[in-house]
Amino acid sequence: MSPSDGRNAEGRGELNRPGQTTSPSDGRSAAVSRPILSVEELTMRFGGLVAVDDVSFTAETNDITAIIGPNGAGKTTLFNCITGFYRPSAGAITLHGPLGEAALHRLAGHRIARAGVARTFQNIRLFQGMTVLENLLVAQHNRLMAATGLGIGAVLGLSRYPAAEREAIERARHWLDATALLERADDPAGALPYGAQRRLEIARAMCTEPALLCLDEPAAGLNPRESDELSMLLRQIRDGGCSILLIEHDMSVVMGISDRIVVLDHGRKIADAVPSAIRADARVIAAYLGEGDEGE
Ligand SMILES: Nc1ncnc2c1ncn2[C@@H]1O[C@H](COP(=O)(O)OP(=O)(O)OP(=O)(O)O)[C@@H](O)[C@H]1O
Ligand SMILES: [Mg+2]
Repeated sequence: MSPSDGRNAEGRGELNRPGQTTSPSDGRSAAVSRPILSVEELTMRFGGLVAVDDVSFTAETNDITAIIGPNGAGKTTLFNCITGFYRPSAGAITLHGPLGEAALHRLAGHRIARAGVARTFQNIRLFQGMTVLENLLVAQHNRLMAATGLGIGAVLGLSRYPAAEREAIERARHWLDATALLERADDPAGALPYGAQRRLEIARAMCTEPALLCLDEPAAGLNPRESDELSMLLRQIRDGGCSILLIEHDMSVVMGISDRIVVLDHGRKIADAVPSAIRADARVIAAYLGEGDEGE
């Protein structure tokens, strides 16, 4: 069962929520824009079903780019293509990352992670029996292994492993602090309340120090206070230099923090603009009211 099911239904029709007039880009420099991710003519078919249909868009560096759309629009499928869970049927996905350009549509999932992409899942996927801290250390396993030269050196104590391990713990501590989980560090992840598990997923992703963080419905199941705290956390992550792709049904979060919004409906991109323009877009409103098939 998806924890977001009820939420998704509630989220419909909320695009014109009153009292949201400020642009999240206010005060941020619009002078330099540089893409972090380019998606070109991406198509993902499952048999006869076209889940993502010829979608192109660009996410800018240090932006929060939201991907919204009704249930079944193809949002998670798009993430699964970006993060290597699916090999797209057609099209290209390019990360303009710290290590140079990476053709994500051709890379295996672990190589995509190494190129600088991290994600969270629509349905929480933590190691429930491990402690909160252990979850964050496991996430850094690749980096720790690299520090040992991927060999027996660590066991013999002859490598850089101890220093790398200390750094991993420091990094975990930083993100535990940022996500208000420090006091729960030694508790099993499965014992945390739902909202805290969602934050832990974000902390875990951030421990890999990604250039692009992909979040699949991080506000699903959160209460309004937790959603506001999430918005603050995501702004902080963006302002710290990590670009964000955000799938979200909670329009108060989306409209409040997104720099740009891409709207999908039935696998197609139907809009791509700043929040104020999306809020006023007739096609988008129609899609959310379940009238997306009309006039096509
Ligand atoms: N592995 C798969 N095999 C077959 N069909 C799939 C698969 N994954 C997704 N689909 C279909 O692709 C379409 C898009 O699904 P997707 O999960 O990407 O939507 P979504 O926009 O994330 O929806 P939601 O808001 O409900 O999470 C749906 O019709 C879904 O049933
Ligand atoms: Mg989804």
